[in-house]
Amino acid sequence: MATGLPAEGTCQVWWTPAARPDDPALLALLGAGERRRHATFGDPRGRAAYLTARAVTRLVLAGMLGTPAPELGFEAVCRQCGGPHGKPVLRSPPAPVEFSVSHSGRWCVVAFAARTEIGVDVERIALRGDTLPLRALAPAERATATGPGVRDRTAAFIRYWTRKEALLKATGDGLSVDPATITVTGPDQPAALLRWDNTSTPADTPHLTDLVAPTGYAAALAGLGRPLVVSYHDGGALLRKGI
Ligand SMILES: CC(C)(COP(=O)(O)OP(=O)(O)OC[C@H]1O[C@@H](n2cnc3c(N)ncnc32)[C@H](O)[C@@H]1OP(=O)(O)O)[C@@H](O)C(=O)NCCC(=O)NCCS
Repeated sequence: MATGLPAEGTCQVWWTPAARPDDPALLALLGAGERRRHATFGDPRGRAAYLTARAVTRLVLAGMLGTPAPELGFEAVCRQCGGPHGKPVLRSPPAPVEFSVSHSGRWCVVAFAARTEIGVDVERIALRGDTLPLRALAPAERATATGPGVRDRTAAFIRYWTRKEALLKATGDGLSVDPATITVTGPDQPAALLRWDNTSTPADTPHLTDLVAPTGYAAALAGLGRPLVVSYHDGGALLRKGI
């Protein structure tokens, strides 16, 4: 029986540790296009993250809508070029539910809300290269992240980054918009947007929330047009139960 969509003004956040990269039971939940994309990841960690996020997305939506997971249809049209690599949306069956996906390290997070554009981002709190890519920060953010009051610059940078990427995923712009053109509150302050200085200003007011994330990770959620009350769910248990 279908559980129905999340209540308006709420958001379900499903955390899931990455499953086995080629789990046949999870692959059976995917569509043909997703299975082809899964096969293109040479790195097993990339295959695992992609497969886990897609399987959880399908199982949660299947539970909400009462449609078998493999029968759901998605589209991901790029806002820049019209190619099939933009923000994913549910097309079939049509339903006013939005979702957003992110993976980092061994964790995947998928967020769901009704009638509200959302974006979610998770990042492991670790340096990727030798230095922090501070050019992604707006001048005021850069000054804070490198200032004397910050004990852990990497953690501060990742906090900024997750908030900005969540916003850009909610609008569907992704990194085609320079994150440095967005200013958010400092890492020790409640998450909020301060300035949006690029051409794609969202029509609906963006609201930001830091999410409770696994140890060693930071995550943020953006909702356009309204603040969202978050509930947390165990995607690992869903995968074990749902397949
Ligand atoms: C979306 C984006 C910010 C994700 O960055 P990331 O930190 O590497 O990855 P995350 O794990 O946080 O998120 C990946 C997920 O975001 C989603 N996504 C992809 N494009 C998106 C967009 N434009 N808006 C919102 N979500 C998007 C997908 O679900 C993707 O998961 P999948 O690869 O399993 O399908 C980045 O890949 C991006 O900006 N891509 C688009 C760049 C662009 O528009 N280029 C122009 C091409 S013409």
